[in-house]
Amino acid sequence: MNKEKIFKLFSLKGKVAVITGGAGMLGREYARILSDAGAMVALFDVLPQKEINKRVKEISSSGRVMGMTMDITKEKQVKEAVKKVIKKFGAIDILINNAAATDFSGFKNSERFAPYEDFSLDVWEKEIGVGLTGALICSQAVIPFMKKAKSGVIVNISSTHGIIAPDNRIYGDGKFKAITYPVIKSGILGLTRALASYLAPYNIRVNSLVPGGVKAGYLDEQFEKDYSSRTMLGRMADKEDYAGAILFLCSDASSYMTGSSLIIDGGWTAW
Ligand SMILES: NC(=O)c1ccc[n+]([C@@H]2O[C@H](COP(=O)([O-])OP(=O)(O)OC[C@H]3O[C@@H](n4cnc5c(N)ncnc54)[C@H](O)[C@@H]3O)[C@@H](O)[C@H]2O)c1
Repeated sequence: MNKEKIFKLFSLKGKVAVITGGAGMLGREYARILSDAGAMVALFDVLPQKEINKRVKEISSSGRVMGMTMDITKEKQVKEAVKKVIKKFGAIDILINNAAATDFSGFKNSERFAPYEDFSLDVWEKEIGVGLTGALICSQAVIPFMKKAKSGVIVNISSTHGIIAPDNRIYGDGKFKAITYPVIKSGILGLTRALASYLAPYNIRVNSLVPGGVKAGYLDEQFEKDYSSRTMLGRMADKEDYAGAILFLCSDASSYMTGSSLIIDGGWTAW
């Protein structure tokens, strides 16, 4: 295969992508690579518009990346945001369901790491609302446009915790990984398969990315050490490590892949 063919396989020239939670750590990395591959990108995020604008600027000054403040758990806001993207960019070819609940004001930190028999139902509903219901609402909002275009790609962001249980030994004494997390992330895999089966007749592909833990400034040194030792590669992911995978899933490079998932986890789940 010559260089031109390889370039075409991964090119997103003229495509329009929506990334939920797009102003977050990984959302911005996805926006960067998709935009570099030629796509117009819209970030849906609950952060204040001013903050989103700042982050958009950091990603690209090309004018091909836009961001809007909205809440993916609110159907009306999602529909409005989708309308705005269509008005500005003319279509939505790619949806990445990436958002995860981040605002826990009103909840005690201990509630999120509670033993499972004490896990707060308010936290449960809040997290599932963003991570699962929000992914359904956003999918519902773009499907009519993709059906009409007879093409589209949806990528749902799962996690290694979608396929294996959390190893609570690494979270510190008396702390447990929020039980919502594996529930949402395995739910995402089910959502992926159901949507893939339903949307295949319309030439719309639906897959999941299954990332492992990312090195982030806020992580405890001991946690990072313990996590790293559970991976074959001996380290947590860098936030750039998923760029190739997301581009593969969004582009024609994955043209025969649907209803499936791509695990990128430094070998954690293979051990
Ligand atoms: N960081 C990791 O180690 C890791 C590993 C595996 C999977 N993941 C998954 O990847 C995705 C992104 O993770 P991240 O680390 O970039 O998280 P992040 O917290 O940096 O980003 C999440 C974004 O979602 C936004 N958001 C929250 N609620 C929202 C709502 N109601 N409407 C719109 N936007 C909303 C937040 O404002 C934030 O910008 C998540 O689904 C996460 O579970 C992350």
